[in-house]
Amino acid sequence: MDIYEIIKRRRTIRRFKQKEIPIELLEKFVDMARIAPSGANMQPIEYIIVNDKKIVEEIFPLTGWAGYLGKDGPPPEGKRPVAYIVVLINKDIKSPTPKHDVGASVENILLSATYEGIGTCWIGSINRDKLREILNIPDNYEIDSIIAFGYPDEESKIEEFGGSVKYWRDEKGIMHVPKKNLKNILHYNKF
Ligand SMILES: Cc1cc2nc3c(=O)[nH]c(=O)nc-3n(C[C@H](O)[C@H](O)[C@H](O)COP(=O)(O)O)c2cc1C
Repeated sequence: MDIYEIIKRRRTIRRFKQKEIPIELLEKFVDMARIAPSGANMQPIEYIIVNDKKIVEEIFPLTGWAGYLGKDGPPPEGKRPVAYIVVLINKDIKSPTPKHDVGASVENILLSATYEGIGTCWIGSINRDKLREILNIPDNYEIDSIIAFGYPDEESKIEEFGGSVKYWRDEKGIMHVPKKNLKNILHYNKF
């Protein structure tokens, strides 16, 4: 797969096979995040890999899934993530761009996982207070987001934008994700 194929193939996955992900791969993903661009090269981001079965199970109820799909959003039992990476910002490091840094780092993780055939869901809807407690995260670290991992147990496709940004799941269980057309977002030389 070349870089363009990987970028196109990456889709959010919310149904996972219950097969373990080798720790070496999760570590590799963080290693790819580590070398992402960083404003003033301040590198304020740290990561927690969670692959302990018990803790993975404790995290799931703290997460929100596919708001547009209502009760069909969250993965049912037997299709839930098998690992997470928690993305933290060290508030003691005076970065001018912590959120941009997170974006760049997380995208490196998502693309690396896609390359390895692993599905991901980047999750911002989290009960952060409970997560902090369960994982012993100190107060000087902001919990930015988490990434859920597992081998994909669903298909998701890009659709042409037809006026709504809402993704949907069809009767076969396939996810469809509208993306805006290039001509609607691209300007040349002047706006
Ligand atoms: C910062 C961020 C936070 C997100 N939070 C959630 C979330 O809490 N729950 C969820 O199911 N998906 C979440 N997503 C995934 C988006 O819903 C998904 O990226 C979007 O629907 C487009 O689908 P695609 O990733 O397949 O292109 C988040 C994505 C981003 C970038």
